[in-house]
Amino acid sequence: MLKPIQIKEDLFYLGVNDRTKELFESLWPLPEGVSYNSYLIRDEKNALFDTVDICYSDVFLKKLEIALDGKPLDYLIINHMEPDHSGSLALLRTKYPDVQIVGNKRTADMVQGFFDIKDGVKVIEDGDQLSLGKHNLVFYLTPMVHWPETMMTYETSDKIIFSGDAFGTFGTIDGGITDTQLRPERFYDEMVRYYSNVVGKFGSPVQKALEKLSSLEIKYICSTHGPIWTIPEQINKVVSLYDKLSRYQGDEGVVIAYGSMYGNTEQMAETIAHELAVQGIKDVIIHNVSKSSHSYILRDIFKYKGLIVGSPTYNNKLFPNVEYLLSKVESRDMKNRCFGYFGSFTWAGAAVKRLAQFAEDSKFEVVGTPVEMKQSMHEDTYNACIELAKAMADRLKQDR
Ligand code: FEO
Repeated sequence: MLKPIQIKEDLFYLGVNDRTKELFESLWPLPEGVSYNSYLIRDEKNALFDTVDICYSDVFLKKLEIALDGKPLDYLIINHMEPDHSGSLALLRTKYPDVQIVGNKRTADMVQGFFDIKDGVKVIEDGDQLSLGKHNLVFYLTPMVHWPETMMTYETSDKIIFSGDAFGTFGTIDGGITDTQLRPERFYDEMVRYYSNVVGKFGSPVQKALEKLSSLEIKYICSTHGPIWTIPEQINKVVSLYDKLSRYQGDEGVVIAYGSMYGNTEQMAETIAHELAVQGIKDVIIHNVSKSSHSYILRDIFKYKGLIVGSPTYNNKLFPNVEYLLSKVESRDMKNRCFGYFGSFTWAGAAVKRLAQFAEDSKFEVVGTPVEMKQSMHEDTYNACIELAKAMADRLKQDR
């Protein structure tokens, strides 16, 4: 039997670790798993914040029963309805039929749509408050961080923000639950990957949410994934990271994402990468799109300001995995990137034309002259790759 973990006097962690699922949302790899976090505040009225994926409902409900210690469950606050958090809702309602479900109008629509539950739902609006006794809750609607119904709940005496997906990470929380009990560095890259994969399209709503929360004093960030953030420097760090990511601000560095069937296009990528280093760009990340998961390529594209994409021509189009990557970048409304591109063909070139179209559609700043290679690398192509790398390095160094 797993027991709830007491975080502070009235706050309990009831989350679970998933080390079984291969792909989050059936899309994003989970080599280090993921946690689904749920919390309970015990007071005159007891309030639960979100549930967990249905696969873990047994363990979760048992933890809740122990944490309640015979007291009733009065409220289920739903900050987010995606089923990794609402999955155990119907079972919870069966076990606690008197629990009031608390959410906004969109939440109520989804509760009915997903679970056919209409009764016992308390609809709140932005800024509404709910007293539990000693603890007072304020609701902040934060639509599209990550779904339209998403909201955050602020507890005013202990200054806890229950933030939903925001500030969440991939990766199970092994051992420690709060940042004081583990090495926070392990989670930064997985926070960027979670953001870029799952929330990345919604930069503007994230900015609005950060603005809404900016006047709050926050001592605990209780997200639905990953550790609880409590150390002031860590709280500043993760909030700053979200601010930067949602503004699409990248660090100095270049991601080179390429496809290559027989290694010729890859030689162009290697040539450009080395020249970037010669020019003083220390963060150069090469991804072979046939090997690297798009999840990790997207993470790095969110991290760095420079992006160079290369592709052979395949069936008079882009190499399919490159096309797929571009669709992922386009669907995230990626902004503020310096973009270079190169391509190859054997008898008729199409890749560079398509990359030019992508550059125009994305409104990225095109840097350097695109390089197009026929069949294999000769001196002219080599020199053109060097020039492209120099142009990218010069552009990035302008921002130092
Ligand atoms: Fe963790 Fe949008 O769900």
